[in-house]
Amino acid sequence: MSAPESQPAHAGHSVALSAPTKEIEGFSHIVLEVKDLDASERFYRDVIGLETMGRGLLAEPRPHLLMRLNTGQIIVLAQSDDPVPIRHNTSSIHHAFLLTMEQFRAAQERFAANGYEIGDTRDAFRAKGEHSMDIWDPDGHRWQLQAFSEEQHEIITSGLGVIDCGPAEKYELGSVTPFGKANFFLVRSKEGFLALSRWCRHANGLLTYQMEHWRFYCAFHGACYSLEGDHIGHLAGIPPLRMHPLTIAEDGHVMVDTDTVLERDDDTPPRYVAACEPAAARS
Ligand code: FES
Repeated sequence: MSAPESQPAHAGHSVALSAPTKEIEGFSHIVLEVKDLDASERFYRDVIGLETMGRGLLAEPRPHLLMRLNTGQIIVLAQSDDPVPIRHNTSSIHHAFLLTMEQFRAAQERFAANGYEIGDTRDAFRAKGEHSMDIWDPDGHRWQLQAFSEEQHEIITSGLGVIDCGPAEKYELGSVTPFGKANFFLVRSKEGFLALSRWCRHANGLLTYQMEHWRFYCAFHGACYSLEGDHIGHLAGIPPLRMHPLTIAEDGHVMVDTDTVLERDDDTPPRYVAACEPAAARS
């Protein structure tokens, strides 16, 4: 498995809690117990794509085999009569490789060529541009392969043009109305209206509105946004939500241009459109 040429900012978890430590460069090796060294060598060499370094190279008393990533990091496969791939009472213990998209596609082809079904059991929970597949080695160790594409940060528009949201007076003060197909929230506050994009600024997950918390929430990695669109969660460096231009038509209807997006920085407050502010009055 290869070191990505351009790694995602947060080493595959898409979460930055604080500045990364400078003390540790990476892991040196991990040890996995396997039952059959020959079968495991075939898997890690031909399917995963690691390089065989050799057998019996360490002061490990059991028969063992060293496999190397092109980062220089090593996986030691140590023979055991009874390897335990999954710890008691958990299914979540696993290991993950981080790949570029090119490497990810090559791995998919290698998997298929070796007769492995490719599956992502959590596909529905992933943000756009987040790619992942799981594979199990001959002993049942679960390996995840992850890659992140540009889609994570691209601007997504609905293609639905200008949406007529109906009369302004039908929206109560404090209401948040989701427009599902066009992927925006219409926020009505005492300052006026805002049309906030539903696409999370972290990595294009889709937000939901949590009325009980007065916030927008992204289930992918936990980003939270205020009703103004400012990020208020634990992730670092997340800009405010994008907005769509909004006007009040002559007939008092709220019109949202979903194919145009506006961005603002943290220091610039959003521009509300007053309910009684027809387009002609502002020109
Ligand atoms: S996509 Fe990661 S928190 Fe929204």
